[in-house]
Amino acid sequence: MMEIKKGNEINNIEEVKNCQDNEIDKKIIHSIKNKIKFTDTTLRDAHQSLIATRMTTKEMVPICELLDSVGYHSLEVWGGATFDCCLRYLDEDPWERLRILRKNLPNTKLQMLLRGQNILGYKHYPDDVLTEFIKRAVVNGIDIIRIFDALNDLRNVEKAFDITKAEGAHVQGAICYSISPVHKTELFVDMAKKMELMGADSICIKDMSGLISPYAAYELVKKIKEAIKIPLQIHTHSTSGMGLLAYLKAIEAGVDVVDTATSSLALQTSQPPIEPIVAALKGREKDPEFDLKLLYDISVYFKKIRENHRDMESGMDNIDTRVLAYQIPGGMLSNLSYQLRQQNMMDKYEKILEEIPKVRKDMGYPPLVTPTSQIVGSQATYNVISGQPYKIIPEEVKNYLKGFYGFPPAKISETLLKKAGIKPKDMIQSRPADKIEPLIEKATKDIGFLAEDIEDLLSYILFPEIAKMFLKKKTAKRLGIGIEVFNGLNQYDEMGYPV
Ligand code: CO
Repeated sequence: MMEIKKGNEINNIEEVKNCQDNEIDKKIIHSIKNKIKFTDTTLRDAHQSLIATRMTTKEMVPICELLDSVGYHSLEVWGGATFDCCLRYLDEDPWERLRILRKNLPNTKLQMLLRGQNILGYKHYPDDVLTEFIKRAVVNGIDIIRIFDALNDLRNVEKAFDITKAEGAHVQGAICYSISPVHKTELFVDMAKKMELMGADSICIKDMSGLISPYAAYELVKKIKEAIKIPLQIHTHSTSGMGLLAYLKAIEAGVDVVDTATSSLALQTSQPPIEPIVAALKGREKDPEFDLKLLYDISVYFKKIRENHRDMESGMDNIDTRVLAYQIPGGMLSNLSYQLRQQNMMDKYEKILEEIPKVRKDMGYPPLVTPTSQIVGSQATYNVISGQPYKIIPEEVKNYLKGFYGFPPAKISETLLKKAGIKPKDMIQSRPADKIEPLIEKATKDIGFLAEDIEDLLSYILFPEIAKMFLKKKTAKRLGIGIEVFNGLNQYDEMGYPV
């Protein structure tokens, strides 16, 4: 009999048929196969969406043992914002966080979110950086990589798929869910089929703004399940209040895994909570048979942690159905309001929200997710602040219009192209990364002795300024000298002087 691993490894009925000849075992395995599985996002998306990604590794470690005993399909623990915030605000090495979590979560698969060729950043990186990054992520403990491209341009995820596969990790192809005249169910089904052919081990419907309605979720899950053999997962946010309803319909339609957070860091702009789903399915066919008391203890712990970061709360309403019109992801909503508050411009908030769908239409209906959410968001902000649409067009918007992020789902407005001074000959047709020179060798020289290993170098490549500051501090500590040595002797630093 095949061994049943923790985390419910059996994914298709063929596996069950092939490994079984005993009727009773068949039944056991069938029931395991039917259980709904959960990816817990508490350590990544949940605190990113609610408290500006400020949870520290120290706050995560004490609860790892309990998290590890729940039986989650996986824990999402790493991504762009968690990496950035470690370096920028928490004075933490994101690689070290991953190693610590790996050590403390020996029984559960660890998952990360990768922005395809954008890796963890806001622009495209060359293949040499992508390759090294994925290799090191897997070596340091990542099992599953959820890979997406903001424009759903598959050319931008192809390389990441190949490298992840070569490294022996699980490739999850993510479809950015969006609503627009061009985003029809057939388009998403077709994308799922293509990703399966490209080698994906599973597919995720990634609804980063919490837009999917229960009936849309049912239809989409049903149609994708009919079209593919690999497992299907769904990710949404509770922003509009439809998250739990969407999950229930998705489960009825046969989705295999849902993304949830512990209840004290769920709802609002975060994921739907796990507890009501577990309670609702009790005694039913897909009952995960999780211990509600254990889930309760976990939520009590995170309630205290959330209190530590009260000043980072976005202050958003519990439910905001306006997201259905604006389609803005949770993390972006909380960031936008935080930044506007800092600059005393909160009065512009509503106007910017209203401007976003107009800009999005002009730009060919990109799904709003990093980095397109930032690109559309900054253009909308300029339009409102300058009082005139496209009076100011930032560089990243021009690059977007030229095709340096990939092909948008629909045509870009001619008026916008004209205002930006972009002609057809300026627009590239190739995969954006093909236009980028390799970077590793150059960056190795640039950062010099401050990078102790390849992980340090990758941090520097992805977040040059903040990583450099972080690495100076780290090096000073390692060498037992004061940070002022670097700050005061900049010329040595630039020469890579071996202190
Ligand atoms: Co999300």
